[in-house]
Amino acid sequence: MAKVKSSFFCQSCGAQSAKWVGKCPSCGEWNTYVEELIQKEEKQSWKSSSSTKVANKPKPINEVAYDQEERIYTNDGELNRVLGGGIVPGSLVLIGGEPGIGKSTLMLQIALSLVEHKVLYVSGEESEQQTKMRAERLGIKSNNCYVLTETSTQNIFKQIEILEPDVLVVDSIQTLHSSFIDSSAGSISQVRECTAELLKFAKESGTPVFLIGHITKEGTIAGPKILEHMVDTVLQFEGDRHMAYRIMRTTKNRFGSTSELGIYEMSGAGLKEVSNPSQILLSQREEVLSGITIGATLEGNRPLLIEVQSLVSPATYGTPQRSSTGFDAKRLNMLLAVLEKRGGLRLGAQDVFLNIAGGLKIEDPAIDLSVCASIISSFKDLAIPQTVCFAGEVGLGGEIRAVNRIEQRISEAEKLGFKDIFISKYNKKGLDTSKFKVNIHAAARLDEVFDSLM
Ligand code: TYD
Ligand code: MG
Repeated sequence: MAKVKSSFFCQSCGAQSAKWVGKCPSCGEWNTYVEELIQKEEKQSWKSSSSTKVANKPKPINEVAYDQEERIYTNDGELNRVLGGGIVPGSLVLIGGEPGIGKSTLMLQIALSLVEHKVLYVSGEESEQQTKMRAERLGIKSNNCYVLTETSTQNIFKQIEILEPDVLVVDSIQTLHSSFIDSSAGSISQVRECTAELLKFAKESGTPVFLIGHITKEGTIAGPKILEHMVDTVLQFEGDRHMAYRIMRTTKNRFGSTSELGIYEMSGAGLKEVSNPSQILLSQREEVLSGITIGATLEGNRPLLIEVQSLVSPATYGTPQRSSTGFDAKRLNMLLAVLEKRGGLRLGAQDVFLNIAGGLKIEDPAIDLSVCASIISSFKDLAIPQTVCFAGEVGLGGEIRAVNRIEQRISEAEKLGFKDIFISKYNKKGLDTSKFKVNIHAAARLDEVFDSLM
């Protein structure tokens, strides 16, 4: 007998409580508890289940039948890459991103380009006409892509039974509701129930399902972390909405590596793959300016040469301003303190503005050296030649620390025509420098780098 019960759920982290609480004990958020109805099966002890018929028996792993499943290759190289080599049948893929980043655009583009497969694009956010308008804008024609505006999972499954699609796209999980649950669409229990239903459908029918999910401003997939545990793959779509470039990161993948990265450019006709990102991210400039340096970074498995720009100027109003775009502000403050204390640079009365070109967010610590070089270059108003790049982490003592995969970074710099690269002394040990044409300068401390540059 099913019993209807209600419980309180934190809308931020998904924690459950029997009574309402003001502050969530699990995530610390205030006023996030909402009452939701849940249906509970009567509890059964594990022993009593032995009396019921057993459908699934344990099998020796060597006897499990397994045939290499055919993945579906899309003609989007970046998506194939982040999925670990094409779409896996029966997989449930979650695509998260802030509103307006281009999730719907990307998924519709993929739905339209899979011409050999019947794709059902279910939208709970846009009408059929609106989806059609977007498809017109993308300029891809397909006779095999079907659109449906529906938010009830039961109705969606009815349509799936009739249409029998090869691939299902759901835009977005927060708009779906299941009639088995009473709470409103987008609530924790609805999102969990709808995902569970779609998961069951994906696994039982072998149909790959793409779920679009909105992300909260803190950068987590709205509502539940639970969602991330349920799906096979989580792709995060990020970038600055006002800039052209977008990055697709794999944060979880049951069928491939999580260090893959896809890069797109938003154009007037949808998202275009960027196969040689470094070339575009380095702005083409005519004159040599102070405050501009190039960092050899690594995002996921891909080497990226990124331009770091900074502007250091005397503060005109009281407290000096420190602002950074695309680089962690705390880390900037730390590097400024290191430059002040270890490098003797009087930055205390200066405004410092730092910008990573292209609107990307860089977390790779190897960019530190390039950030320091750019600040010093702007402060002293001495330009650093365009043919120089940097790869090194800077420690609190002003020492340059080794970074991972140095060979990959050097090769990329060489490929793009750089003549000199500054790295940590500790990275040079065991490195076969004879195979590179680029001059490799190894330094143990920040001052050694700048003595040789300025
Ligand atoms: P959208 O895909 O709807 O974002 P999401 O589903 O993640 O909320 O739209 C992303 C933005 O991209 C939107 O503001 C308009 C813009 N855009 C283009 O620049 N070019 C295009 O071809 C399309 C379809 C959208
Ligand atoms: Mg959308």
